[in-house]
Amino acid sequence: MSAKRQRWFSGGELPCVPPPPFTDHPCRMVLLGPPGVGKGTQAKLLCERLRACHLSTGDLFRSARCGGAVSAALREALVAMRRGELVSDEIVIEMVRERAECLQCLGGFLLDGFPRTVQQAIALEEMLSDLNVALDAAICFELPLEEILARLTGRRTCSACQAVFHVTAQPPQVAGWCDYCRAALVQRADDQPEAIRVRMKVYHDETQPLIDFYEQHGKLQRVLATGSPEEIFERTMKLFSLV
Ligand code: AP5
Repeated sequence: MSAKRQRWFSGGELPCVPPPPFTDHPCRMVLLGPPGVGKGTQAKLLCERLRACHLSTGDLFRSARCGGAVSAALREALVAMRRGELVSDEIVIEMVRERAECLQCLGGFLLDGFPRTVQQAIALEEMLSDLNVALDAAICFELPLEEILARLTGRRTCSACQAVFHVTAQPPQVAGWCDYCRAALVQRADDQPEAIRVRMKVYHDETQPLIDFYEQHGKLQRVLATGSPEEIFERTMKLFSLV
C-alpha cells in the first residue's frame, strides 16, 4: 500500500507519511465508468504521474474487512459488496466525510468509486464547498460490455496487498502469486457471474445518472477505455493537456 494512502485507509487524525507533495495545480478528479472498465488501473497510473492521491471507496471497504474488529455498519456494507449491491449512501457518505481532509490533499486526488449515486455526488459537492476546493473534472471511461466482462472475469487480486492483475492482460510473473508481496492471488467474491450481473444492473440504475449530473455541471470528460492501460493513460493525459 502506498504510504500516502494511510490516512484514507485509517481515517482520523493520522498524518500522511511522507507528507503529500505540493503542486501549483493539484488535479482533483472523479473517475466514473462501469465495474471492471479499468478505473483502478488508470487511477494508479494517473496518480503516479500527477502525484495525486488515489482515493478508492472499494479499496477502503476491502481494507477495513482485513483490519481488526468490524462494526455492524461495516458488516452490513461487506454483505452488500459481496452480492454486488451498493453499500448504503448513509454509510459511504459518513466514511468519506470522516476522511474529508484527504480532499484537501496538496497533491490533489482521484476519487475512484465515489460518488456512485446522485445523493453521494451532492454530498461530495457539499464537502468540497465546505473545504473551499473545486472539482476539475469527472472522467467517464467507456468500453463495450464484452470487453468489460473479459476484464472482470480475468481479474485476480492479491489477498494481502490488494494489487490487481489479470490472467492474460496483466499476468503476474508466477501464476497465482503476487509479484509484490508473494501472497496468493484470489478472485474477488463480487467478480463471480451472479454478482457481476447485479453490479452491471446497479451501475445502469444508480450510477449512470451521474453522467448527466456531471455533464450538466460542465465537468464531464469521456475517455475510450480500449487498448492497453498505457494507451488509455496517454489518451487521458492528452485530453487534459497533461503531457
Ligand atoms: P469498487 O472496488 O469501486 O468496484 P467497481 O467500481 O465495480 O470497479 P472495479 O474495482 O470492479 O473495476 P475497475 O474499474 O477499478 O477495474 P480494474 O482497474 O480493477 O467497488 C466494489 C464494491 O464496493 C461495490 O460493488 C459496492 O458494493 C461497494 N462500493 C464501493 N464504493 C461505493 C460507493 N461509493 N457507494 C456504494 N457502494 C460502494 O480492472 C479490472 C481488470 O481489468 C483487472 O484485472 C485489470 O488488470 C484489467 N485491466 C485494466 N485495464 C486493462 C486494459 N486496458 N486492458 C486489459 N485489461 C485491463
